[in-house]
Amino acid sequence: MKTYDVFLEYYDRIVRSINNPLEDEIEFLVEDCINEHKPETKTILETACGTWEVARELISKKYKVTGLDISEKMLEKAEKNLNKKDLVLADMTNFNLDKTFDAILCNYNSICHLLKWEQWQAFFDMSNLHLEKDGLLVFDINTLYEFDNITNDFAQFYNFEDDTVCLEMQKKDWIYEWLVKIFKKSSEGNYDLIEEVVKENSFPINKIKKELKEKWFKILEMIDYHYGEVTAQSERVYFICKKK
Ligand SMILES: C[S@@+](CC[C@H](N)C(=O)[O-])C[C@H]1O[C@@H](n2cnc3c(N)ncnc32)[C@H](O)[C@@H]1O
Repeated sequence: MKTYDVFLEYYDRIVRSINNPLEDEIEFLVEDCINEHKPETKTILETACGTWEVARELISKKYKVTGLDISEKMLEKAEKNLNKKDLVLADMTNFNLDKTFDAILCNYNSICHLLKWEQWQAFFDMSNLHLEKDGLLVFDINTLYEFDNITNDFAQFYNFEDDTVCLEMQKKDWIYEWLVKIFKKSSEGNYDLIEEVVKENSFPINKIKKELKEKWFKILEMIDYHYGEVTAQSERVYFICKKK
């Protein structure tokens, strides 16, 4: 079963909808994360950069951004907007760019695409390897609470001109799976059904905190993206950390 293959045509419009405008996310990343904690930041490595929606905005604010993603198709889409030499096709749990950055970003619960805890640990190791001393690591998670809520919720439907995308989440063997059904209108006027699965996982906040502290990072702040204060009901939580 494919992942983000056809779905990526609709991805940006679903993710950055009216309820979650890109401008708000950029303002949060720049003002509340970078300017608040490392205002001298010039270079950023955006891991799991996807189609570079975020990177494009950061570049317009004069940051020098390198993008890294495991999906060739995502990077092909990113390339249309941006410079190919700043894009790296790689797995964020295992890469070596032979340079360091002022900040590393892993945005929009992309870390949750790493299904095993050892992969999260490997990502923290890679971040340490690629950060300047005092460099900033910023990532956000969908909490277990949020994934369980989505799993218990009804399917979501999105209409795009002729096509309809249906998203539904199930929990299988302790992994959360987005079942993506795309009803795509063909040139004959029929609908083709294309199915993809996007798998995600999350871990308890305390486990993540403990790992970061024991490893290479000082946690500067944890922020509930919607409500500020992190609680047991937080859905999306940002970790803002500094390399020790
Ligand atoms: C939810 S999208 C987020 C894209 C982008 N960060 C944003 O804010 O729009 C998740 C991205 O993670 C990428 N990804 C998943 N596993 C990865 C891995 N092991 N290494 C690098 N990228 C990965 C996917 O290809 C996809 O582009």
